[in-house]
Amino acid sequence: MSTRLFTFTAVAQGPWEVTDQTALAGPPLARASHVQLQAGAPAAPAGLWSLRGITSNERYVERDEKAALVAQQPSLGEPARSCAALIPIRKTAAWWALSQDQRRHVLEDQSRHIRTGLRYLPAVARRLHHCRDLSENEPFDFITWFEYAPQDNGLFDRLLAELRASPEWAYVDREVDIRLSRIG
Ligand code: HEM
Repeated sequence: MSTRLFTFTAVAQGPWEVTDQTALAGPPLARASHVQLQAGAPAAPAGLWSLRGITSNERYVERDEKAALVAQQPSLGEPARSCAALIPIRKTAAWWALSQDQRRHVLEDQSRHIRTGLRYLPAVARRLHHCRDLSENEPFDFITWFEYAPQDNGLFDRLLAELRASPEWAYVDREVDIRLSRIG
């Protein structure tokens, strides 16, 4: 059965080894050595920490953007994309107080998030998970997951630098950047 719920757990041994972990805004997460990604909810997610999120319908993409994304975005799990980034993000109360059209205005008209992201396809595969509707006290609003080839490490850093310099990121009040390498 396919699931929309995914759980990321910091474990002692697992398929993804942490190569770097930096808290850019807000409280850090305990330094992990490995991360396990599971579809669904593990019975008892033992580990240093566990983050969960659900994939959902898109909120902001317009028809032409959707067509461009579908045409270019690669799937997760390709062996060549052996580097990953797990970046949980929380946005401010001010962001959530905006109306839908104001949020789209900041995300795309002001920040060009989608237009910028499209330039990095098909190098980067991604999946966006939402957290807010899971419970009232999730530590993050989004769990973002990206996979790319080792030679595209610098490219991925440039993408992040572009997005973090944009007006959208003024609304980010917690962000932890965890880089990983697939074992085996
Ligand atoms: C690989 C290139 C990327 C592409 C093509 C891309 C594309 C998108 C799109 C289309 C959306 C809007 C989804 C919707 O309509 O609901 C989105 C949302 C989002 N993206 Fe990206 N993105 C990319 C890279 C990144 C990076 C590097 C980050 C940084 C961690 C990021 C963080 C987010 C977050 C947090 C959201 C949710 C925003 C919100 O709903 O407030 N994206 N992205």
